[in-house]
Amino acid sequence: MSSNAPAAFNRRALINWFLGTSMGALVLSNTNQVEAGQVNDPQLLDKGYKIVHFGADPVILVKAADNDFRAFSATCTHLDCIVGYQKEQTRIYCNCHGGTYDLQGRNVAGPPPRPLTPYKVNLVAKGSDPSLIVVSKA
Ligand code: FES
Repeated sequence: MSSNAPAAFNRRALINWFLGTSMGALVLSNTNQVEAGQVNDPQLLDKGYKIVHFGADPVILVKAADNDFRAFSATCTHLDCIVGYQKEQTRIYCNCHGGTYDLQGRNVAGPPPRPLTPYKVNLVAKGSDPSLIVVSKA
């Protein structure tokens, strides 16, 4: 038996214990959901969008209208640049090669071969405060 065996066993036992606990379930479930700020977030009001992160995955959150928020993977389906939102043209745009997506995430112009992956957006009322925007995997 190698000298690493007890350490590997302990690590595996720790992971198994962690996944079996409610804390482990909470941490895992939180990776599928991100709080993206309130509906009156200054960045959303000013630029019409913001980038939020699911771990290493960037997601673009767009304010399409009052209480109408949309979220998609922010990784362009052409060559993986990060997309932005052009408020005046109401389109998601990739500066790298001019890829354009509509507010359903559909690729409508330029080289992107596929739509952006959609995410779900829920507005959660918080008493008298402005609602919280929660983005989750679809
Ligand atoms: S990487 Fe987005 S259009 Fe090329």
